Amino acid sequence: MPAFTAASETGEIRQQFADKQSLTLDEQVRTVTMKLKNKVAIVTGASSGIGYAAAKAFAAAGAKVVVTARRQTLLDHLVSEIEHAGGRAVSFAGDVKDVQFAEALVEKAVKDFGGLDVAFNNAGIIGAAKNTADMSLEEWKTTIDTNLTSYFLAAKHQIPEMQKKGQGSLIFTSSFLGHTVGVPGYGDYAASKVGILGLVKVLAVELGPDNIRANALLPGGTDTPMNFANAPEAGPEVQEFVNGIHALKRMASPDEVARAALFLASDDSSFVTGTSMLVDGGASITKA
Ligand SMILES: NC(=O)c1ccc[n+]([C@@H]2O[C@H](COP(=O)([O-])OP(=O)(O)OC[C@H]3O[C@@H](n4cnc5c(N)ncnc54)[C@H](OP(=O)(O)O)[C@@H]3O)[C@@H](O)[C@H]2O)c1
Repeated sequence: MPAFTAASETGEIRQQFADKQSLTLDEQVRTVTMKLKNKVAIVTGASSGIGYAAAKAFAAAGAKVVVTARRQTLLDHLVSEIEHAGGRAVSFAGDVKDVQFAEALVEKAVKDFGGLDVAFNNAGIIGAAKNTADMSLEEWKTTIDTNLTSYFLAAKHQIPEMQKKGQGSLIFTSSFLGHTVGVPGYGDYAASKVGILGLVKVLAVELGPDNIRANALLPGGTDTPMNFANAPEAGPEVQEFVNGIHALKRMASPDEVARAALFLASDDSSFVTGTSMLVDGGASITKA
């Protein structure tokens, strides 16, 4: 099988735009790679990790992006990085547990950018990290509110704007944890993440007739502050353990997960809906 080289890629692009002789090659390449050109996207959990990387990837693909999380300074930094690279973004800080927040976030997208096409609902916490018998109801509720109820609220307010546009892509970050693997101490987290999978399946059938897709993205261990391999007290043996649970024997970079989110956001996945897409480096099929 011939290698897929940059030269062959350029050849295909030239062919595709053979009739557009007025465009320079740079313009032609840009047209094909701007997978979210003229789209408006919301990215939650954008102050760090996967959301930060996804916001940059979406903006680089041409989207106008509303980025959100609680830490305003980090959002400011992200917006200036995106603008420096020639993209468009605005920040809107808030707490996804706040029931008014999801509506205000969509209003921001409509007010600043004129609508909503893509929502990457990604904010999350690891939870209490306690065995079930030791977990308080308050701890359980905080995790469910942050990781699951916030996704319901987000969808509830994002759907009408997408219906107005006659299309849309809703993406929700779940996890392999709980879906294919049980890990002691993560009952609240697993329940919240698996709950998302049920929500996504129902959204997909509710919204299919409106040309709105809904998908769950299930990362494996990803090299972000949330991962316990990156906890200050974690030694090299913890890193080694986390790397070892993946077939690829390493964690994902946030960019690798962001590229999968970009796939689900763009028309490249135009016939993908209701799916639980593992991006887990083979963690779910690795037993040794
Ligand atoms: N890292 C992994 O190994 C892994 C594996 C599977 C799935 N995931 C999932 O991937 C998603 C992103 O996590 P990450 O790994 O990128 O972790 P991260 O770097 O810790 O990012 C988490 C993001 O969520 C935001 N957030 C948390 N609570 C929030 C709240 N109440 N209101 C608003 N924003 C809130 C944080 O922003 P602020 O603190 O500024 O509010 C931050 O931007 C999460 O849903 C996580 O469960 C991660």
